[in-house]
Amino acid sequence: MLHEITLLEKQTKEQKYISLLPQLFALVEGETDVIANLANISAGLKSNFGWWWVGFYLVKGNELVLGPFQGTIACTRIAFELGVCGSSWKQKQTIIVDDVEQFAGHIACSSLSRSEIVIPIIKNEIVIGVLDVDSENLANFDATDKKYLEKLANFIASLF
Ligand code: SME
Repeated sequence: MLHEITLLEKQTKEQKYISLLPQLFALVEGETDVIANLANISAGLKSNFGWWWVGFYLVKGNELVLGPFQGTIACTRIAFELGVCGSSWKQKQTIIVDDVEQFAGHIACSSLSRSEIVIPIIKNEIVIGVLDVDSENLANFDATDKKYLEKLANFIASLF
């Protein structure tokens, strides 16, 4: 297992992802406990990107239940279809929200969150959870985040 993640200063967002992803993969290598791995992945993402909140919701029955995360306390259960997370689950697609106030049904766990990206974690064509990232800045997420966070979500699916 890797014990420290290093990123160079002044990298573009894409360079950061290119450098960070293999380190996240190495971080969980050899560890079979999914919760431990998700906890370290959320810490690796939060400390290197400085996002407001990053973490996982896992499908349990007909709800998403809060999993490992980094950030302020969050709502524990989200129903299918509801909020950005429940919508991503239903649509089986990544959702980028530039301004959470403009997203009908957005679930506000923190009033400081302004934009959000949610990536479904899909195994055998079934959504088993989502990766949720919140930013204090409007329109913080774009196609670059989608591309690399989907790669990460693919890898995460293989951990289950
Ligand atoms: N905003 C999310 C809820 C989860 S928190 O952001 C951590 C949503 O609308 O589904």
